[in-house]
Amino acid sequence: MPSVSSSVEDVSQKNFRFRCIACSDLGDSAGQDFRCGKCGDLLEITYPIWKGAKPDAASLKKAWQNRKLSAAPADLSGVWRFRDLLPAIEEEQIISLREGNTPLYELPRCARITGVPRLLAKHQGMNPTASFKDAGMTVAATFARSAGFHWVACASTGNTSASMAAYAARGGMRGLVLVPEGKISWSKLSQALDYGAVTCQLRTDFDGCLKLLQELVKCAPVYQLNSINPFRLEGQKTLAIELLEQLDWQVPDHIIVPGGNLGNSSAIGKALLEMRELGLIPKLPRLSVIQAEGANALVRTLREAGGKKLITVVAETRATAIRIGNPASWKKAAHVLDATEGACEQVSELEIAQAKAEIGAEGIGCEPASAVTLAGLKKLLHQGFVKTDETVVLVLTGNLLKDPDFTIGFHRGDMAGSIQEAEALAPLRHPPIVLDASLDAVIRTLERFN
Ligand code: F0G
Repeated sequence: MPSVSSSVEDVSQKNFRFRCIACSDLGDSAGQDFRCGKCGDLLEITYPIWKGAKPDAASLKKAWQNRKLSAAPADLSGVWRFRDLLPAIEEEQIISLREGNTPLYELPRCARITGVPRLLAKHQGMNPTASFKDAGMTVAATFARSAGFHWVACASTGNTSASMAAYAARGGMRGLVLVPEGKISWSKLSQALDYGAVTCQLRTDFDGCLKLLQELVKCAPVYQLNSINPFRLEGQKTLAIELLEQLDWQVPDHIIVPGGNLGNSSAIGKALLEMRELGLIPKLPRLSVIQAEGANALVRTLREAGGKKLITVVAETRATAIRIGNPASWKKAAHVLDATEGACEQVSELEIAQAKAEIGAEGIGCEPASAVTLAGLKKLLHQGFVKTDETVVLVLTGNLLKDPDFTIGFHRGDMAGSIQEAEALAPLRHPPIVLDASLDAVIRTLERFN
């Protein structure tokens, strides 16, 4: 079985090491499960060379700006443009779909609804496969291929599988996808099929798929591309770097992100801490994580176990992307929440549906899991945790088109349970209208809505 580290050393001037998040043991290699050989906890990537020769913040900012004018493939990627803060690899090795480069939108209507003066959305759903996963996948798939793997694999609630399948195809590797049968959206599944992955719908939930994958990587030469893989998190860091660059390095007060397996919050937090360490930003924004009430493992872990021991849950939510009860990166997420003094909140199905429609009404939309951010912001404002004079950035993780069943169900009125719920959602619903094909019928409809 190819070793992840030795081949990497062959192809790059290695600028990074693996470090255990629990016992801090440092190593040049990582096993297929990306766990510490000594204590079994997760590994992260660290850059010891920064201790000796810290990259200069002003030079980095200038180099990143200059690369925007370049037509080199690595510079056209909104991830690899920031390669100075990523594991080094020769540029010809990079598998890229021009990921990153995602827009930062103002949300004026949602700002009015919530009462914050400046509300922004970093829309990761505008990536090549329409979710934030691409930013991590370009890095992890690149290192998979450079380490000599022919097969890459993931367990997924849908978006990881779509992204992995695409990058495997681009990189000439085979992809194996494990998804919970009947519990992911067809849009995401269709992507994995079209990109040519071997797609297995397992009769279990996401947590069951991930458990099986952990066993598989120990006995088959497949490289796992779940966010346990620390290369994924390095790529996902660039979301935060690009965001700060878009804000001209003015630090927002608050960044809010959905939490499922908790890789993305961990990556964003790592980026913020590194940017402060390197002097790219003078202070940290708060980073808060929002979960669905029915998939609230981190919320419960922090509230009921003081963040010391994971409380797993049997997850249930219509926001299928975050239907996860046993989040792998919970310790990393708890650490960044602590370091940035962020909050962890949960929101109901109704709150998610309402927030999703409100983001849709801005003309940009997102998938249900992303909408927990706006729903969570409302809660944090209500609690006084976010102040009404703060600048807030919501990380929208997936595109509206990722889950059309949810959206159509909402507008048709299939979702609201009680009469009160139906009344709360009514102004946001825009169900399709079936008419005879007559001018008169269309004009009367126009008048009705005038
Ligand atoms: N939002 C979307 C749209 C997602 O697809 C996911 C995770 C999350 C948020 C949560 O991010 O796991 O890093 O905390 N989707 C994974 C998947 C698990 O398989 O596609 P996280």
